[in-house]
Amino acid sequence: MLKRKVKVGVVGCGGICRGTYMENMMYRFNIIEVVGCCDLIDSRAQYIADKYGVKKMTFDEMLSDPEIEVIVNLTYPESHFEVSSKALKAGKHVYCEKMMAPTFEEAKELGRLAEENHVFFTTAPDTFLGAWEQSARKYLDEGIVGKPITIHAQCTSHYNPETPFFDLAPKYFFFPLHYGGGFPFDLGGYYLHEMINLLGSIKKVTGFGGNMQPVRTYMNPHHPKYGEEFIVNTPTTLLAALEFENGVLGTFHISSDSSDTMKFQITGTDGVFDLGDPNSFSDDIFVTRKGAAPSREEIVAGQMPTSKIENTSDPEDDDQQLGEWTFAQKVKLPILHGYYASSRGVGLADMCYAIVNGRRPRCHYDIGLHAIEVIHGIQESCKTGKIYEMTTRCERPAPIKTSALSQTCQEYTLDD
Ligand SMILES: NC(=O)c1ccc[n+]([C@@H]2O[C@H](COP(=O)([O-])OP(=O)(O)OC[C@H]3O[C@@H](n4cnc5c(N)ncnc54)[C@H](O)[C@@H]3O)[C@@H](O)[C@H]2O)c1
Repeated sequence: MLKRKVKVGVVGCGGICRGTYMENMMYRFNIIEVVGCCDLIDSRAQYIADKYGVKKMTFDEMLSDPEIEVIVNLTYPESHFEVSSKALKAGKHVYCEKMMAPTFEEAKELGRLAEENHVFFTTAPDTFLGAWEQSARKYLDEGIVGKPITIHAQCTSHYNPETPFFDLAPKYFFFPLHYGGGFPFDLGGYYLHEMINLLGSIKKVTGFGGNMQPVRTYMNPHHPKYGEEFIVNTPTTLLAALEFENGVLGTFHISSDSSDTMKFQITGTDGVFDLGDPNSFSDDIFVTRKGAAPSREEIVAGQMPTSKIENTSDPEDDDQQLGEWTFAQKVKLPILHGYYASSRGVGLADMCYAIVNGRRPRCHYDIGLHAIEVIHGIQESCKTGKIYEMTTRCERPAPIKTSALSQTCQEYTLDD
């Protein structure tokens, strides 16, 4: 039997609350019990309360309710510090959506408050607990590409005000174009958390970039401010070099000024590991190794498997196919872990088990703080032209057990 449920209060009833979190908190993870919700915009809280049968509350009511142990902060990034700091001071554990604060200084203050009040402060992204991410960690740790030498993370996407995500009601149009919510914080967080999960702490960073297009125009005719200009006050493009504590060297290229690309790849002494999209729980992962080539007999008999194997050398080249067998094959690897469907909130469920079982939560504050310092350090390096030496470090989170369990049973792997 489940030891007990953990009661939570949800602050912020916008897009991600409606779209994903409420479904997962209510129906997916049995350890979570949602007591109530609140939002600055009353109608949003009312909508969630009516739809899911939870209480519409004020934030202060949540903080003074002794039954509520955890505050789930799903506000936009500009409100993260205000909401989390109040909750921590009230003695509540906090799970906060990414990134935990717009600045490194505020992020450090949140950690101090959590320590002072003897509560957990954990942060998204939690996608690194997902299926491909955990499988990649297991394969990497078992040496699938030998000793890792480099990592290359690239994510560019056209986050512009013509996107349909703007909000008509409040002052907001789309948080990734606002202070603290910029692309390096928003999408960058997913890459950094998975890099830390795979390779551990980062020692030094350096970079170029900043805000490449500060003056923008509301381009959607449906927006009340259509045609007006506005200023974006957050970095939009950063191109950085990273040095990990374990000696791995990395590049981190993140931009909302250019069109869509996604690349996440580790090279090692024995092969190349093509990873998935760290903003997604399910994706394919591939390895390219000399040893993964098909046998001579298979090729001669025309049985070379083509559906799952993509020949990275020229398939027409007989010399390569029938020669010394040194060409590499890109092979799709089986995914061994659970959480392959949209599982946002798995980090929250993990923290609830951490509370009940008295262990360290996987989305630990240290990882979020380290990721924020990387972005802070790259921005500092952009300004000073110097290498930034990181002042924080973190442990890699404990891996999750492999699992071939059905969706709801996968929660079993967190009860450790
Ligand atoms: N939208 C997505 O696809 C997505 C995906 C993953 C993670 N996230 C993260 O989730 C968080 C929220 O994103 P969103 O898209 O839901 O934003 P949103 O703007 O749609 O919703 C945020 C809500 O928080 C409320 N709010 C703000 N300050 C508040 C306060 N002090 N007290 C009470 N309510 C307050 C706002 O009124 C709004 O309804 C962000 O940190 C974002 O990075 C969003």
